[in-house]
Amino acid sequence: MLREAMLTVASSDMVKSAVTSMPGSARVVRRFVAGETVAAAVATVRRLVERGLQVSVDYLGEDVHDPAQASAVRDAYLELLRQLHTAGVADHTEVSVKASALGTALPDGAAVALANARSVAAAAAQAGTTVTVDAEDHTHTDGTLALVQTLRAEFADVGAVVQAQLRRTEADCRALAVAGSRVRLCKGAYREPGNVAFTRRRDIDLSYVRCMKLLLRGSGYPMLATHDPRLIDIATALAHRYGRGPDSYEYQMLYGVRPDEQLRLVRAGHVVRVYVPFGDAWYGYLMRRMAEKPANLAVFVRSLLRRS
Ligand code: FDA
Repeated sequence: MLREAMLTVASSDMVKSAVTSMPGSARVVRRFVAGETVAAAVATVRRLVERGLQVSVDYLGEDVHDPAQASAVRDAYLELLRQLHTAGVADHTEVSVKASALGTALPDGAAVALANARSVAAAAAQAGTTVTVDAEDHTHTDGTLALVQTLRAEFADVGAVVQAQLRRTEADCRALAVAGSRVRLCKGAYREPGNVAFTRRRDIDLSYVRCMKLLLRGSGYPMLATHDPRLIDIATALAHRYGRGPDSYEYQMLYGVRPDEQLRLVRAGHVVRVYVPFGDAWYGYLMRRMAEKPANLAVFVRSLLRRS
């Protein structure tokens, strides 16, 4: 119920302008978002890398409907990759992109997004790193996976993302669990209808475990994106059962969520990648995080009510 309400609130312009103008909002935003500029993102990456973490940086924004904006998103990634390289952290830092931010909704959108994604993937390769293409709601899944497949012909390490909440994802995992394929498995952040998605938490978790088994048993590189302690324990046990060394898969978590657990896993010898969002379009992202964890919402509301 709360998740539904928060996702509805996230799409309200009135609520957005009220929240962004409240005195305490910057403090809460900073917990989950690196900042609005490339420089702020790179500074956050440096701090995380110093602690032994890997990073994936996301320039916030999706559903672009203006060609100039899609080009601006591409250019932001090119600048980000240039600065990551200059800062000497590109070998620990990939970038995450959303196909819709690169132009899939524009006329001839698949071709526009592919051209933009290709530029970003080429810049990433030149900087010594790679790209993972985020999963968006189920109406985008076919297009996004096709984009990844096309990119992989040129840039073999471009990663795909699948969402355990979608009923199709087991089949997608079967297809993606092949040599050289990097696959991020997450539960899924979008509100989806029951005909395409599991809607009960327990069913989503069971699907996550089935997908995780397929990926860990397969010959690709699984990237297990979850903060769920039970799923992390199951992943560790399955990786052991299938004889996977610590360098043959990784855990992923969001910036600001369970930071102590991120470091605990690193100390235990695991590869952990932190997903770091930056940019001025932080509002929808922040609302999705609030929807996932009522405790985050409480912190948020308290900060807003406190005078800065
Ligand atoms: P869930 O939200 O069900 O939480 C399970 C448990 O984790 C909780 O009961 C609690 O124990 C613990 N937990 C969760 N949040 C916590 C907090 N703030 N503090 C303490 N404990 C907490 N989605 C998408 O649709 N497309 C995408 O491309 C991506 N990409 C992505 C990358 C990465 C690196 C991550 C980690 C996540 C994504 N997601 C995503 C988001 C993902 O789909 C999902 O919405 C969130 O990760 C929340 O799901 P959890 O697996 O953490 O479980």
